[in-house]
Amino acid sequence: MSTEKFLPVEFCKGNNGLDKVVLRESRGSSAEATFKPPKAIRGGIPICFPQFASLGSLESHGFARNRFWSIDTDPPAFPTNSSSKAYIDLILRPSEEDLKIWPHSFEFRLRVALTPGGDLMLISRVRNTSTDGKPFSFTFAYHTYFSVSDISEVRVEGLETLDYLDNLQNKERFTEQGDAITFESEVDKIYLSTPTKIAILDHEKKRTFVIRKDGLPDAVVWNPWDKKAKAMADFGDDEYKHMLCVEAAAVEKPITLKPGEEWKGRLELSGVPSSYCSGQ
Ligand code: BG6
Repeated sequence: MSTEKFLPVEFCKGNNGLDKVVLRESRGSSAEATFKPPKAIRGGIPICFPQFASLGSLESHGFARNRFWSIDTDPPAFPTNSSSKAYIDLILRPSEEDLKIWPHSFEFRLRVALTPGGDLMLISRVRNTSTDGKPFSFTFAYHTYFSVSDISEVRVEGLETLDYLDNLQNKERFTEQGDAITFESEVDKIYLSTPTKIAILDHEKKRTFVIRKDGLPDAVVWNPWDKKAKAMADFGDDEYKHMLCVEAAAVEKPITLKPGEEWKGRLELSGVPSSYCSGQ
């Protein structure tokens, strides 16, 4: 384990012996997470790539979230618009096994950064590196889990009046009616053509999470509620009361890249007291 505790980036061993990277802004500290391969952690921000959910022949949400990524020691310049030094660059290239199930050569670069203001920023860059002249298409999501005090008190703003595909009704298309989204039963919707800013208001904690995104037109809203929560082995029976996924995504219109082309998708998350955020 590194002893240079005050550096913004720390490399150390997790409690199961896996390498892990801790990003630190001077005013914060990182929570410990346990993770057991090969399945993604249910929490945090699993990367859904090259397939969102079960929209194709791959495993749910694609294979990227279940793979070991390498630290990218020689990344190309990233357009972060931030002076932060607390960042890490990761890279995923397909293995022989991956190429058997998804026969496309790619490089997926991910920058994870903490801004000096305490925001979290993720920038994904996917490049088609194939030499066969063939394009490929993919769907994508930052499967972001938010911790909330009480789901029945939460409101999501920015999605009202938009069209959505309802995963609970064979992906039928509907239009959201009325005000901010609230929660009283299972929800699994893909909102389409969403604004670049979405807010989650957590009333009890008097906190608002603000999601800002680029290159990601859709937004998935998911809470499994009681029955599905019980059916998931890696999810506590009552945990649905204290979580919500709002996922910046590109689902309805898959992204297509010709050889040599690159796609970028950026997510920025901030969690600020509601009073500070209102009206912004
Ligand atoms: C959401 C999907 O993104 O992820 C849901 O919209 C899915 O349909 C949920 O159930 C969890 O997926 P998984 O594969 O992590 O259990």
